[in-house]
Amino acid sequence: MQYLAHTMVTEFILLGLSSSWRLQVLLFFIFSVFYEAAVLGNILIIITVIIDSHLHSPMYFLLSNISFIDVCQAMFATPTMIAGFLNEHKTITFQGCMSQIFFLHVFGGSEMVLLVAMAYDRYIAICKPLHYTTIMSRRVCTVLVGVSWAIGISHSASHLAFTVNLPFCGPNRVDNFFSDLPLVIKLACLDTYVFEILVLTNSGLLSFMCFLLLLTSFAYTIILATVHRQASDGMSKALSTLSAHITVVLLFFGPFIFIYIWPFESFPIDKFISVFFTVFTPLLNPMIYTLRNKDIKEAMRTPRRHVGSKQGF
Ligand SMILES: *[C@@H]1O[C@H](CO)[C@@H](O)[C@H](O)[C@H]1NC(C)=O
Repeated sequence: MQYLAHTMVTEFILLGLSSSWRLQVLLFFIFSVFYEAAVLGNILIIITVIIDSHLHSPMYFLLSNISFIDVCQAMFATPTMIAGFLNEHKTITFQGCMSQIFFLHVFGGSEMVLLVAMAYDRYIAICKPLHYTTIMSRRVCTVLVGVSWAIGISHSASHLAFTVNLPFCGPNRVDNFFSDLPLVIKLACLDTYVFEILVLTNSGLLSFMCFLLLLTSFAYTIILATVHRQASDGMSKALSTLSAHITVVLLFFGPFIFIYIWPFESFPIDKFISVFFTVFTPLLNPMIYTLRNKDIKEAMRTPRRHVGSKQGF
């Protein structure tokens, strides 16, 4: 706490993605388009799942919860970043920077855990189809969603707990278009090595564990599905939703792991990865599920409202 007395930095300067004004304006338009597509696409998924009774199943509840997180991220974290492209002198207040870090990590963390929950759901659907409705009950679903938010929030809070107390006594230039935690920590006026390791461990462990769980459950599901080859209609449907999920996970984690495995070297590729992570990942669900998933596509064309409740709950 005695750090606070030394703190002088009240705002951070974001250096953005490029020093060229034209490129910044171009980026502004590209980002805006992606941003709007992500918001609309995710809202469309949420509405479709709410109104179509055929989609009232654990898998689609989890999917729409992921879309909900993407919408939250788009509402709280992305607009200021995008607006920043049109500012020649991009600054962000100390509080603004901390809340940006907080939200990014809450949403990122919760979303990763939800992806694991969805993989578990696919595992049950494919490997224990007869027990699916009893195992994935409404209560279990709600618990999974609650746990994912709890993990996201505590993960992010543990980052912030020490970051807000670091002594920022002068340097305040962040070489990115948002206040990226590893870069912000480096500006503190003390040997930040331990803190860098802390961030690396915290974020790294969470993403690594989620990724490992995902890979294990995918491998397990695929192997078991191959062993008990049941060529039913329901099975092929479940397998196609599994492949959609695997696609989302691979695209989600590819850049994410990159950014946190090499955060402290001035890798030029860093910025491009952070662009991918903040702007493209919210688009993954809408792209993959509205284009590839039959149920969602059908539901979007003709929502079915009052068909008897055949669903799982
Ligand atoms: C999230 O999941 C819960 C639990 O299954 C569900 O009741 C709720 O409708 C979902 N929320 C959204 C926004 O999809």
